[in-house]
Amino acid sequence: MRKRVAGFLPSSERVTGSKRRSSAGRPVDLPADPRDLACAYRGDDGSYYSYYSSLLNQTSSLADCVRIEAYRECLDRNADNFAGKVVLEVGCGLGLLTILAARAGARRVYAVEASASAAHHARRLVAAHGLENVVTVVSGVAETADIPEQVDIILSEFMGDFLLGGSMIESLVLARDKFLKPDGAVYPSRCEMFLAAACSPGSVEPGLGAYEGVLREFREAGEQLRADFDIDLGALSDAFEQEVRDQTLRRSCGAQLEPRDLLGAPVMVKEIDLQTATLDEVRAVTAGFEINLGAAAESGGRGGGERVLNLWVGWFAIAFEGSPASPCGSTMRCDFGPLSDRGHPQLYQEGFVVHPSVPLGGARSIEGTFEMSRRPGNWRQYDVRIAHLVRLEGGRIGAEADSTYHLN
Ligand SMILES: C[S@@+](CC[C@H](N)C(=O)[O-])C[C@H]1O[C@@H](n2cnc3c(N)ncnc32)[C@H](O)[C@@H]1O
Repeated sequence: MRKRVAGFLPSSERVTGSKRRSSAGRPVDLPADPRDLACAYRGDDGSYYSYYSSLLNQTSSLADCVRIEAYRECLDRNADNFAGKVVLEVGCGLGLLTILAARAGARRVYAVEASASAAHHARRLVAAHGLENVVTVVSGVAETADIPEQVDIILSEFMGDFLLGGSMIESLVLARDKFLKPDGAVYPSRCEMFLAAACSPGSVEPGLGAYEGVLREFREAGEQLRADFDIDLGALSDAFEQEVRDQTLRRSCGAQLEPRDLLGAPVMVKEIDLQTATLDEVRAVTAGFEINLGAAAESGGRGGGERVLNLWVGWFAIAFEGSPASPCGSTMRCDFGPLSDRGHPQLYQEGFVVHPSVPLGGARSIEGTFEMSRRPGNWRQYDVRIAHLVRLEGGRIGAEADSTYHLN
């Protein structure tokens, strides 16, 4: 489940746990052998899967035509690769992609879905389309599902917030290692993650507004306490500011940027080959980056004027290329970021507010490091850390910052 662009919600309104493909937050003891992961996590995944039990919660996925269209186009253009093949869909939800795979000519589709209720709905939808003879809906977790044969193709729409959020990619890797024939193909076969510096006042406003609003309330309450009871809250003001900052500005927000909002070119921080990736490769990202600003530092944004860095934005792209043994006749790449040529995706861009914003007058480049790692105690949730410095013309170092964000 990806976030909607509406972005920031005060914590009281924020839906946690399953909405974010997250488990309830109970600490999990990680097994030494990654192959044991599927079993070890079972007990902690109730809220994650139960989110998908509700038809209501599936609405944003169903309305996500950019995503569905990408898969449909790939299947249409590569129907030859699907004709007569055995396909496994990992996490079929209500069965949309399974139906498309059956229509593309698959001989058999095993549609595995961990939410029993979603699997039930998928069975009904498959029957309503007259595809029961081709599709077997399997209720259970893909990694441990009972699939009676090895498959030619694994199909999955596993992408979470900033790709890795929710960690469903791990289920895909485990299911691939267990069920895919040696020369089989994973659809999609490759993903890329991008980070860009941006100037987007509209994206940061909700978080910043909440941050300033709560601090204002704290100040007013403090003044009242001092006047009425001679109690000074000053000793707590740093701790209060830190807590409000964590709750408002240190959580990612949905963003919907356009190319003119970007400062310089995006950098690819991770590429994953889904045909071969190991569990370790899909669990974390660490990358250094350098963004040359050129003229972007001076002008070109909405409204003109001097530009500031006030947002980092992350997104991903997927590619359908088939496998070396069974390549796609028509390869496809679908980028869900600001540079997308597939209309304007409603979801998929993840914003990280930079506060205070950084003026870029006289700046030559921004250098830094990007890290995305699992939050201790919850394998489905991620933290993002971005450390950066501004390199000025002449080589001097300008503003520096190092912030960790909760992938919301
Ligand atoms: C983002 S939805 C995609 C649903 C569907 N493929 C579509 O495109 O509309 C992910 C689905 O995968 C299911 N899921 C996640 N991890 C799974 C796993 N390990 N085994 C089976 N199903 C899983 C979830 O319950 C959810 O229904």
